[in-house]
Amino acid sequence: CGIVGVIGKKNTTEILMQGLEKLEYRGYDSAGIYVNDQAGHDYLVKRVGRIKNLEAAVDDSIQGTLGIGHTRWATNGKPSVANSHPHISNDERFYLVHNGVITNANELKRQYLLDIEFASETDTEVVVQLIALFAREGLSAKEAFRKALTMVDGSYAFSLVDRLTPDTLFVAKNKSPLLIGKGDGFNVVASDALAMLSETDQFVEMKDEEIVALTQDGIAIETLDGTPVHREAFTVKMEEGDASKGTYPFYMLKEIDEQPIVMRRLVKKYTNDRGEVELPKPLLAALKAADRLYIVAAGTSYHAGLVGKGLFEKLAGVPTEVHLASEFGYNQPLLSEKPLFIFLTQSGETADIRQVLVKVKAQGYPTLTITNVLSSTLAREADYQLGLYAGPEIAVASTKAYTAQVAVEALIAQGLGEAKNHREAEAFDVVHQLGLAAAGQQALIDQKDAIHDWATDLFSQSRNAFFIGRGTDYDVSLEAALKLKEISYVQAEGFAAGELKHGTIALIEQDTPVVAFISDPKTAAHTRSNADEIAARGAKVLRIATESQSSEEDQLVVDDIDPMLAPLLMIIPGQLLAYFTSFDRGYDVDRPRNLAKSVTVE
Ligand code: G6P
Repeated sequence: CGIVGVIGKKNTTEILMQGLEKLEYRGYDSAGIYVNDQAGHDYLVKRVGRIKNLEAAVDDSIQGTLGIGHTRWATNGKPSVANSHPHISNDERFYLVHNGVITNANELKRQYLLDIEFASETDTEVVVQLIALFAREGLSAKEAFRKALTMVDGSYAFSLVDRLTPDTLFVAKNKSPLLIGKGDGFNVVASDALAMLSETDQFVEMKDEEIVALTQDGIAIETLDGTPVHREAFTVKMEEGDASKGTYPFYMLKEIDEQPIVMRRLVKKYTNDRGEVELPKPLLAALKAADRLYIVAAGTSYHAGLVGKGLFEKLAGVPTEVHLASEFGYNQPLLSEKPLFIFLTQSGETADIRQVLVKVKAQGYPTLTITNVLSSTLAREADYQLGLYAGPEIAVASTKAYTAQVAVEALIAQGLGEAKNHREAEAFDVVHQLGLAAAGQQALIDQKDAIHDWATDLFSQSRNAFFIGRGTDYDVSLEAALKLKEISYVQAEGFAAGELKHGTIALIEQDTPVVAFISDPKTAAHTRSNADEIAARGAKVLRIATESQSSEEDQLVVDDIDPMLAPLLMIIPGQLLAYFTSFDRGYDVDRPRNLAKSVTVE
């Protein structure tokens, strides 16, 4: 979910709506705003679905000077108007928006709110009713809010309006992100700085378990136990790249097309005039000191991490493990003596990753966040941060951030390997390889029409599909399958080509679609036989191979590149197959059902 808030600006409605649009990547099940003009007029609008539905319902002529807004990714309770935010106390005094999950909401309800009639199934409503109860018992709005905060378990970013004191906006956070934007004669809050960059570039960070009272001219931060905190603002720069869709039907296609530019941009960002990789010195020292790297990520970024393992082990000679963030935090493996943690994350906001960051920081280990959003929570909270420079990625299904992550991992691995005089790194030319990647990606992008035909042929009628490969081609298979699942709802599995025969081959029927990736000379012949075995059982097989490994039967031939970096090319047809399948089925490619671009709850 995403939240916004404004105090002291006349065009509050407009600012809230623009902010929510920028936060839509955090969820789009429903949205709502509450606006108050501090002169006795106020209004609330909520709608199910995308922000544009809310937009259509909002009357822009109604403005105020205080307001809060919310876009929802459903956790407690189905997407409906009743369950959407802002939530209101029964006495209609308090309005609350929330990002996070309160885990003891049911207990609180049973203990304190037995005689209250609830309008929704949400944990958020429990909190707003609790605040109202404490206010009725005589506490001020702020003290009632504070008391409620000391009782809730779980994660939250809250923004609260008290209709009796409409000159103040109250906010608080724990685990979920929230930033204060400082203006001249106004203040704003948002889950993500980008949502308010049109108003200000001065932001004040909030730490967990802090409560803030914002007025038009003041920002009063306190810890939950009442100790005042002073914190300076920092400047947020607009990320590089263009966020408009232009003539493209969907952002996803635009973002697929941008990948060659991103490869070239990364070479520029990470190398000096002599073409050598240059990493920040303190980070390089920390990487050199590590005896093992732990890459922690989710979704597509996890798949990019799998490719990174090979790069770090081969080019830099450092053992590397890759973990799913949602698993690692609660089942921490036995660590090496000097681990270094790498958090790979497009958004820098994924809650599953943040819980790991918090835990390993508490254990004193060094942390590096590699992200597309350098102003994000995970970038700010890690010891070191590196950018992906892919430009804003808007489509929910990640494409250019994946290839950017693989490229940045290659650049770091080369820089580290050279610093350690590791032979493999000295023999490798990452700049040349990324140049090959850019050219090879472009050649694939230019074959869109042919790939569209295969998408139609393979997937238009099917409910399931397989992607197979070995080594990095296996990593690509996992990512290509995820793309197809996410946006076209075809049940797809990425499989190690050699493993299929040990069970899953039983699922192959006449015309089951299978895509085989073949780029590694060590295993090409074996993968080819696996493809033949399933073709013999009726599967419809699309073979995609690099030039030096190709044979006559291959439908798509990809430029040669070092097998460690083959995913930079092999994934392009995977992305395009998914895109066209979704497009042909008439789905909203950029906003697939049930998903959010950034999941800010665990
Ligand atoms: C969500 C998105 C995925 C993404 C994952 C990790 O689930 O739907 O596309 O890969 O989060 O996101 P991150 O921003 O941490 O890379």
